[in-house]
Amino acid sequence: MQDNFKTIIEPFKIKMVEAISMSNKEERKLFLQKAYYNLFLLNSDEVIIDLLTDSGTGTMSSKQWAALIDGDESYAGSRSYREMKKIVYELSKMKHIFPTHQGRASERILFSCVVKKDISIVPNNTHFDTTRANIEYLGGTALDFTQDSEDPIFKGNMDLKLLKDCFEKNKKNIPLCMITITNNSRGGLPVSLKNIKETKALCDQFNIPLFIDACRFAENSYFIQQYESEYKNTSILKIIQEIFSYCDGFTMSAKKDAIVNIGGLLCFNDDKLAEGVTNQLILTEGFTTYGGLAGRDMAAMAQGLKEVQDESYLKYRITSTKYLGQAIKKIGIPIIEPIGGHAIYIDAKKFLPHIPVSQLPAQALACNLYIEGGVRSVEIGSLMFGRLDTSSKKEVPHDMELLRLAIPRRTYTQSHIDYVIETFEKIYKQKKDISGLQIVKQAPLLRHFSAHLKPV
Ligand code: F0G
Repeated sequence: MQDNFKTIIEPFKIKMVEAISMSNKEERKLFLQKAYYNLFLLNSDEVIIDLLTDSGTGTMSSKQWAALIDGDESYAGSRSYREMKKIVYELSKMKHIFPTHQGRASERILFSCVVKKDISIVPNNTHFDTTRANIEYLGGTALDFTQDSEDPIFKGNMDLKLLKDCFEKNKKNIPLCMITITNNSRGGLPVSLKNIKETKALCDQFNIPLFIDACRFAENSYFIQQYESEYKNTSILKIIQEIFSYCDGFTMSAKKDAIVNIGGLLCFNDDKLAEGVTNQLILTEGFTTYGGLAGRDMAAMAQGLKEVQDESYLKYRITSTKYLGQAIKKIGIPIIEPIGGHAIYIDAKKFLPHIPVSQLPAQALACNLYIEGGVRSVEIGSLMFGRLDTSSKKEVPHDMELLRLAIPRRTYTQSHIDYVIETFEKIYKQKKDISGLQIVKQAPLLRHFSAHLKPV
């Protein structure tokens, strides 16, 4: 245990560095113009601090790099697979453990085995976009039941009353229920162990399997340890094991809390489901002991899954996210609270009330943040979730205009984060000069990845 210090240091030292390509404001204006005001179309070396996502962008440790060298690349039955399986079993006790290339592959394979077109309903506290998209692509219905909770911290919880209503009405058509920890689409907010346990009890009552979307399981466990009084003296490992003891299976993007650049997991207990998943996996991802990954990727995953349980790491991770959020709030920029585990969400509608929703205030803020400091973020608003109504040719906006600053794991130091804060100080002073954007070209699906925009 560490002494009690105000300063929580990064609990690692840097052994290898990657140069950041620096640029100035005039250069960035040109880069952005060339990228049609869409930050997904920038080259990464045109970015100074990249907060687009926390997925696959974290820094691996020296032990993970050593594990990569030691990876066993056998097509079948590789040692690296067995090492990965051993640690996943220790955490979850799942009978069937399948690697996949990333989270959405696990989702696609799982749902293709259980979702029936025009019949199936899959409830969740909040589906992540790819989870929802995979269900809807198969003709199922994805429903969100986030609790409007009084709890100051566990605002990612499942609304058990709404879930029960849904079970009562649709029992026969629900192949499984999901719970996403932490709740990414609701600000990366945690779910309490009590809520997970109660969700499982309700699922059992209706004989519906519970699956966890577990990509940020360790961050969620840290919140439980810190804020759910019963678990104050429980180790992170024990909390993780208890979480998994309440589910029948889980999907996981290893690109988050396994701190690797690529990888995913699909794990569960059901033998019958394992037959279907094995067929799908072999058909589309690869043999069951590599599932689309290299042996070295599974070796790094095994090591990452051990490291992520370290309490000093989790303390630094959650505290450093809070540090950024509190500093931005102090400047006067409205953020979504409480602050979650992996990202800060800024309410752009509140911050830029002079920009109408039709002119994409969150994207306008994202572009301004980039021009001012070379900081790349991601819009979660009407560019991402709005759509063009093809009959009326009118834009249907999203109800929220958020800007997400997602923090890659172990990648930036406090001075990088202070630089982001200073960029926001500059933006605050000139907020009235920020103007809106309009879409000039868009794809019919997932338009935010490729849309072209221009200033109004
Ligand atoms: N579930 C959750 C809760 C996620 O946050 C993500 C990815 C996935 C599933 C899909 O995993 O990317 O490995 O296929 N979230 C990233 C993000 C992309 O930026 O929030 P994947």
